[in-house]
Amino acid sequence: MADNHNIVFLNGQFMPISEAKISPMDRGFLFGDGIYEVVPSYKGKLVGFGLHIQRMQDGMNAIGIKLNKSVDDWRDIAQSLIEQNGKGNLGLYFHVSRGADIKRFHAYPDDIEATVFAYAFEIPEATVADKTLVKQFKVASTQDLRWKRCQIKSTSLLGNVMHFQQGHDAGVHETILYNQHNELTEASACNVFIVKNEVVITPPLDNQLLPGITRHMLLDILRKDGTLQVEERVISMNEVRAADELWITSSSKDIAPVVELDGKPVGNGKVGDIWQLAQTLYSANKHNY
Ligand SMILES: Cc1ncc(COP(=O)(O)O)c(C=O)c1O
Repeated sequence: MADNHNIVFLNGQFMPISEAKISPMDRGFLFGDGIYEVVPSYKGKLVGFGLHIQRMQDGMNAIGIKLNKSVDDWRDIAQSLIEQNGKGNLGLYFHVSRGADIKRFHAYPDDIEATVFAYAFEIPEATVADKTLVKQFKVASTQDLRWKRCQIKSTSLLGNVMHFQQGHDAGVHETILYNQHNELTEASACNVFIVKNEVVITPPLDNQLLPGITRHMLLDILRKDGTLQVEERVISMNEVRAADELWITSSSKDIAPVVELDGKPVGNGKVGDIWQLAQTLYSANKHNY
């Protein structure tokens, strides 16, 4: 899929990316006033599609964007993008902004049409539950300085972008974040889990973190399997630093094992046995969602 031949969806039509144009008055451009999703597709099979679309709808409801599209409408767009862009491994990006007005005014205009954009991009092979093959992640940590509505998957991502850049500048893959009470929230583009004494622990859902679909599916899969104990509770950064294992999760990464935090080894500095078990279960069951 050469990028300039990429076929994208914009406001009801499919077209080459080079022909996709939006107004500079679009509120997505001026205010970051929009909601987005990224859904992974492996060889034409979408993972967690209904869950992703529900989260996008929740986001639109939260910010008052009205759009008449059903899950099936979105699925048709996804299938069409997959057919037109090859059946490899694709991330499907969906974006709804409030639309373009004739003036720049903060209040939501009543009578504009939302801008709907979707495109597909190549993603790596699905993570294989093999300690010797999996990519080992290094992360930095810093205080979470984003806004207080992190449960909304908003296109206003500057806070996340700046935190990601901190890690990038430090030569690591991600930046994990903690609030003013020294409690773990999430990472700039992932949710975070720790393992201590074989218990898998992640922060509870609230306004400090995105309700990740990978997080949701992983918790569900682990609870149904029952081998590992699972907890959703507040985690202090002291616990994170003393964890046996540290994972970051997202739709494009599955469960990514972290071996180094702020230049120090996590646990014994190697990919852990609990990761191996969790990723095995996740790989076996993720297509059921
Ligand atoms: C801030 C943030 N947290 C968590 C996630 C993980 O969410 P999901 O598992 O739905 O991809 C993402 C994904 O992009 C994210 O941007």
